[in-house]
Amino acid sequence: MHVIGGQASTALAERISRELGNAPFAIPFVKRFPDGELYVRVGGRLAGEDVVLVQSTRTDQDVVELLLLEDAIREAGARRLTVVVPYFGYARQDRSFYPGEPVSARCMTRHLELSADAVVTVDMHSAATLQSFTKPAFEASGIPAIARLLRERPVDLLVSPDKGGTDRVRRMALLLEKPWMALEKKRIDSDRVELMLPSASPIELEGKHIVIVDDVISTGGTIVEAAKLLRRHKVGATAAACTHGLFLKDAFERIKAVTDDLYSTDTLQNPAEKASVAPDIAQILRKDVAELA
Ligand code: R5P
Repeated sequence: MHVIGGQASTALAERISRELGNAPFAIPFVKRFPDGELYVRVGGRLAGEDVVLVQSTRTDQDVVELLLLEDAIREAGARRLTVVVPYFGYARQDRSFYPGEPVSARCMTRHLELSADAVVTVDMHSAATLQSFTKPAFEASGIPAIARLLRERPVDLLVSPDKGGTDRVRRMALLLEKPWMALEKKRIDSDRVELMLPSASPIELEGKHIVIVDDVISTGGTIVEAAKLLRRHKVGATAAACTHGLFLKDAFERIKAVTDDLYSTDTLQNPAEKASVAPDIAQILRKDVAELA
């Protein structure tokens, strides 16, 4: 199996290749033409080989690079191409909310799977989007990676910033054998949220080491409000953990100002990536994808 890392996921791709027993790893050549178009070239002998291409699609450039790399790998004669998209962009527009809108998530699945034999992603925004792939598609979770990291740190209580994250925090709590709680969240607008402690069965917070667990940190508004709320209840320490760390604008600094620690997985390259999903992706490649052959 050959592993190729696009510009958005180079370090994670190399970690995956190591998890696969030091599978041959390559970084493609990428440049821009004077008119702004992207140019890519993959090296190595890929004819007849099983190739894994790793590229998160946070930006439009990432999407175009991924499409071009898929085509280049096919041109090079790969036998099987598995596309790993650790952070799958455009996933949040998973339905047409107003007349005239696209279902952006489905549009992306259709196009990104075109040259692929199988797709692997991590903590996708919705199950419906995962199901919209027509090729075999597998989802890894960021929860085991964060749990591996948190085992080495003091944790008394795991907190989800909203009820939607209940399954996630419950799963993490099971792995770490710790209690959990879900806050109540009201979104005021795309940048502002209001959070409250759950009214039923309040848990004692004073002096506790708390980790707030979310799937995505985007503007940071949710985590900042959650951390401020917990601090008002005199917790001992607050950390935040997420699978996908987008950290838009000054989110990173705003969160650091109100928490004691910040952890993200490596689905996106960012200053908080301390937990790797490479073992979890490699396991899917070794088991589920290999079984398709
Ligand atoms: C929302 O349902 C998600 O789980 C995250 O809580 C949300 O996307 C985080 O966004 P932000 O960092 O902008 O508050």
